[in-house]
Amino acid sequence: MTTSLIILAAGQGTRMLSDRPKVLHEVAGAPLLVHALRAGAALSPERCVVVTGHEGEAVAAAARDWDPDIAIVEQTERLGTGHAVQQARPALDGISGDVIVLYGDTPFISAETLTKMAEARTRHDVVVLGFEAADPGRYGRLVTSGDTLERIVEYKDATDEERAITLCNSGVVAADAALLWDLLAAVTNDNAAGEYYLTDVPGIARSRGLSAGFVTCDEAETLGVNSRADLAAAEAAFQARARAEALVGGVTLAAPETVFFAYDTVLGRDVSVEPNVVFGPGVTVETGATIRAFSHLEGAHVSRGAVVGPYARLRPGAELAEDVRVGNFVEIKNAVLDEGAKVNHLTYVGDAHVGRRANLGAGTVTCNYDGVMKHRTEIGEGAFIGSSTMLVAPVTVGRDAMTASGSVVTSDVPDGALALGRARQVNKPGMATRLREKLKQIKAQRG
Ligand code: UD1
Ligand code: CA
Repeated sequence: MTTSLIILAAGQGTRMLSDRPKVLHEVAGAPLLVHALRAGAALSPERCVVVTGHEGEAVAAAARDWDPDIAIVEQTERLGTGHAVQQARPALDGISGDVIVLYGDTPFISAETLTKMAEARTRHDVVVLGFEAADPGRYGRLVTSGDTLERIVEYKDATDEERAITLCNSGVVAADAALLWDLLAAVTNDNAAGEYYLTDVPGIARSRGLSAGFVTCDEAETLGVNSRADLAAAEAAFQARARAEALVGGVTLAAPETVFFAYDTVLGRDVSVEPNVVFGPGVTVETGATIRAFSHLEGAHVSRGAVVGPYARLRPGAELAEDVRVGNFVEIKNAVLDEGAKVNHLTYVGDAHVGRRANLGAGTVTCNYDGVMKHRTEIGEGAFIGSSTMLVAPVTVGRDAMTASGSVVTSDVPDGALALGRARQVNKPGMATRLREKLKQIKAQRG
């Protein structure tokens, strides 16, 4: 059976006190919306629709960034979650099978839970995801008898007795598409909020003699973000999980609580990560590599046996082959370092290719930007770049070539050649002593 996804993301998120729509606030380097889309992707949906409203263009752009084929519909008036789901109907025209509704501000629903819901759909016409809330607060409550969900009552409309229920509504709903449209058509806004509630759907199904059921998940999964405090809590929850998963996966973390992962960080077995390391999006570290303390990696690939840091920065497009060394205060951007290359100290390598076993001395800079355009630097296999060499791109240093320390290299260096690009040294005997005496006299005269 096919499943399509509807993600509700029209809300402003007033309590975030932000110019940015709530679903674009980030956890682990990805917008909340992308977390919800990733969760939904576990179902391999036939079609995916995002319902936008507040700052709709920005939200749509983030959704298309994730999947260019995603359908976007706008809810121009926010009349409630039921109304929001109805807006997606034209975008799902001609689709049969199930629809699952997720909320854009609920990032952590797991693939297992969604699979459980799909499985429960074989027993019930409508399935809702519930959870036992430690503090049920203002969540909607699930009114159940046995494994039947009789209805959902919103907090605002609930009696004291209903408010005492601790089984709460996560917001996730699954039903056959045609049935869902049918049931939604019967939803009214005759309630305390004056909204069209999606949560009326199970009760309407029951009143028609259909069956409604529920599955439950851990409260941590249904964590919804409504405030900055919730966002911080979501980040902390994500990091705690990512650290635990890394350890289970055979990664050594000397101080797990100081290592920060992105939503898509991939670390191989026997990778070792020292304290205070930050992984931005798009990082893969292969088996046996070491990331030393205080390093920051983003959009980078680190191969087997490479050592990065301490205090290294890998920016997008950094591609380190096996056994590469990148040391302290080194920045690598959009550059490929072939096997065994060494860049150990105080160096910037950008828009470059560094050949096998090449060695870049301290203070090497690829001068890749002329203020308008970026240019490439090519460093051949086995080349030795003397300390404090400025490689003014576009420029090529040949295989096994050398550059003298302090050189400003502006033209290509042939294979095996030594480039000297600096003023010749002149020594003036005794001049330092005479100069120092003279300076002392001047100082004495000035008192
Ligand atoms: C909703 C549920 C409640 C559940 C809770 C879980 C309803 C009526 N209530 O309450 O049972 O316990 O979520 O977090 O569904 N949205 C739109 N358009 C609208 C209204 C909302 O797109 O017109 C979106 C919001 O952006 C948000 C989601 O739907 O992503 C949920 O809306 P929200 O107003 O936060 O619902 P809650 O009051 O939290
Ligand atoms: Ca909410």
